[in-house]
Amino acid sequence: MAKVAIVTGAGRGIGKGIALKLASALDMNIVVVDIDEGTANEAVGEIKALGKNAIAVKCDVSKAADVDAMVSKAFELGEVEVLVNNAGITRDSMLLKMAESDWDLVMSINMKSLFLITKAVCARWVDMAKKLQEQSGQETQPAAFYPKRYVVNISSIVAKGGNMGQANYVSAKAGVLGFTKTVAKEMARYNINVNAIQPGFIKTPMTDKMPEKVIQKFIAAIPLARMGLPEDIANAVKFLSCKESDYITGFSIEVDGGLDM
Ligand code: CAA
Repeated sequence: MAKVAIVTGAGRGIGKGIALKLASALDMNIVVVDIDEGTANEAVGEIKALGKNAIAVKCDVSKAADVDAMVSKAFELGEVEVLVNNAGITRDSMLLKMAESDWDLVMSINMKSLFLITKAVCARWVDMAKKLQEQSGQETQPAAFYPKRYVVNISSIVAKGGNMGQANYVSAKAGVLGFTKTVAKEMARYNINVNAIQPGFIKTPMTDKMPEKVIQKFIAAIPLARMGLPEDIANAVKFLSCKESDYITGFSIEVDGGLDM
């Protein structure tokens, strides 16, 4: 039976690229989570055209009630094996002009969402692991006894060296790395791997909004001399979502064409 992956922010951009890749390359059914039902439904159509099952779930990832309802639907679809926390937004401005509301919004959507979703999904995985351990009649079991599960968090290359105009976004994306390393340590005993990806400048609706002169400055600084594509990120997510990476946890892969922030 095909396994299920939950991908947040999968209606467009990097998230949609990840959803399509996990469906086509890992034979997974996909829960397309997005605040925008229209784009989520379009992504579902594209996944179904690949012969895989998919559902669209409208969800504000920063709201606990929305997250709990979404996670319930995901576990009804089948055996959830992969969680990709990709949903994110920018509200760029220089610090002295940054509104408190834009700080709060970016922190809730880009970082608090990971706390809500990862906690809800891991709670179910841990419950299942505990049942398996009880059924085994043994007091303890090694991690490898439990089915493998994968969490992949999308951080950003800007978490490494900062980026002008993004105090809120960079703080959240650096937080994603700390969260990844901590939850990896906590969940390892249940055979749950938790890793991150740090995309560089990827061609998406998010980067299309950047001023042209800033885009040109970044392209000039990328040794591979091009912006990345959603598929470049999706390939790394695929690796961290399957058995080829089973011995990697608490790690982050920079996928940025060599950009040195
Ligand atoms: N490097 C060097 N100088 C920069 C700069 C940069 N990255 N960004 C802005 N500046 C300079 C400007 O040239 C300008 O200089 P002068 O005063 O000498 O003219 C000064 O800083 C002020 O900049 P703006 O005139 O642009 O100020 P603004 O208030 O109108 O806009 C801004 C500020 C909204 C932050 C705008 O500059 C902007 O959108 N910058 C892009 C921010 C960015 O890189 N976002 C990344 C989006 S992609 C993403 O987030 C995905 C990911 O994970 C990487």
